[in-house]
Amino acid sequence: MNTPQHPRHPAGPPAPLPGSTTLFALDPGTAHLNHGSYGAVPVPVQRRQAELRAAQERDPDAFLHDAPDRIARARAEIAAALGGNPERLALLTNVTEGIAVALDTVPLAAGDEILVTDHGYGVVTRACERRAADTGARVRSVRLSPQTPDGDAVAERVLAAVTPRTRLAVLDLITSPTARAIAGPALLDALRERGITTVVDAAHAPGALPVDLGGEAGGADFWIGNLHKWAFAPRPTGVLAVHRRWRSRVRPLTYSWEHDRGFPRNVEWRGTCDYTGWLAAPAGLALIHRIGAERLREHNARLVEHGSRQLVEHAGLRPLPAHPGLPMRALRLPAGTAEHEHSAKALMAAVHRALRTRIAVRPWPGGGILRISAQLYNRPEEYTQLATGLPRLLTHRAGPSGGGQGAARSSSSSMP
Ligand SMILES: Cc1ncc(COP(=O)(O)O)c(C=O)c1O
Repeated sequence: MNTPQHPRHPAGPPAPLPGSTTLFALDPGTAHLNHGSYGAVPVPVQRRQAELRAAQERDPDAFLHDAPDRIARARAEIAAALGGNPERLALLTNVTEGIAVALDTVPLAAGDEILVTDHGYGVVTRACERRAADTGARVRSVRLSPQTPDGDAVAERVLAAVTPRTRLAVLDLITSPTARAIAGPALLDALRERGITTVVDAAHAPGALPVDLGGEAGGADFWIGNLHKWAFAPRPTGVLAVHRRWRSRVRPLTYSWEHDRGFPRNVEWRGTCDYTGWLAAPAGLALIHRIGAERLREHNARLVEHGSRQLVEHAGLRPLPAHPGLPMRALRLPAGTAEHEHSAKALMAAVHRALRTRIAVRPWPGGGILRISAQLYNRPEEYTQLATGLPRLLTHRAGPSGGGQGAARSSSSSMP
């Protein structure tokens, strides 16, 4: 995989797309350069959810009685957009929940190993640790330097950590702290050839990258994505795609009235609940379709590349290897800055206070990692303002202790 530092679009920032100033309800006094954490729900999708809520309140009995079938129809639309089979894909709350379902479903025994990487999402790694503690298995975490140049080098490191005891690999499609690809098709194939069950954390994929689940689980045993990050769905909306070999064995977290109907309904239904977000999710996908999925991705990739350049030129940050076409970029802060959870959070708060800008900062030994995102509503000047204002905030913070105490491992970070 080719992952140069600034892979595409040397021509500069893109022109704004139609709707850039009207489609979102974000506070115009703040530059929201952190779409990757929680997304933002476009106004038409908010309206669609409000209509559904109103219908629910007009006749709760009818609405909730029909809800499992309504969910099935929404799921069919979502599955079509992701290239999935609606019988092998369940809607659920979010990736945190989907990971729990996958971990609960895969049998593990004493001595088995679960493979993760140190770029994995903190609470996903912790969920693996809890499952390991319950079963006598152990978690083996592959250390990857944030500078590891490309997907082949990453795959090599992951495969080198496989042992005869490895049963399960839980890997990110796109990592949260470093915005890079790990679970590519070649790595998933290689793991499957070794008899290892694979769970892909695809939290950032829908809407950010072209997704084709291939009617199954995108080359994995379990593939879990969020629609509320990049696919314009109301929070919380996640999807869990499972390979057919697991379908009858999936263990829902909640025993419900839909239990006996099997996957996916047994995972989706959790009794009386507000399902309107899932039901409005197809409106988010339809909006992306109207804007043009490729056009939107191209816009966002160009804009984030521009943002990354600004941070290199004005703030002297070091860009980490980038995944082509992705709307997120990660850059290394100077050594001594944001190396701990406390100081990373303090830097995010300082950036918000002083520059009215939202960014993500992840603690990392040797210098924290700053992540920017780009979405339809962002403008090139927002990145320039961040890049020119950041240096004075960094000089206050650099120092041997990074200005704070606490765990330095990224898997301890509670930040999305
Ligand atoms: C890679 C990754 N996995 C999992 C999650 C958890 O997502 P959620 O809180 O929606 O479950 C996140 C959140 O940002 C993430 O970035």
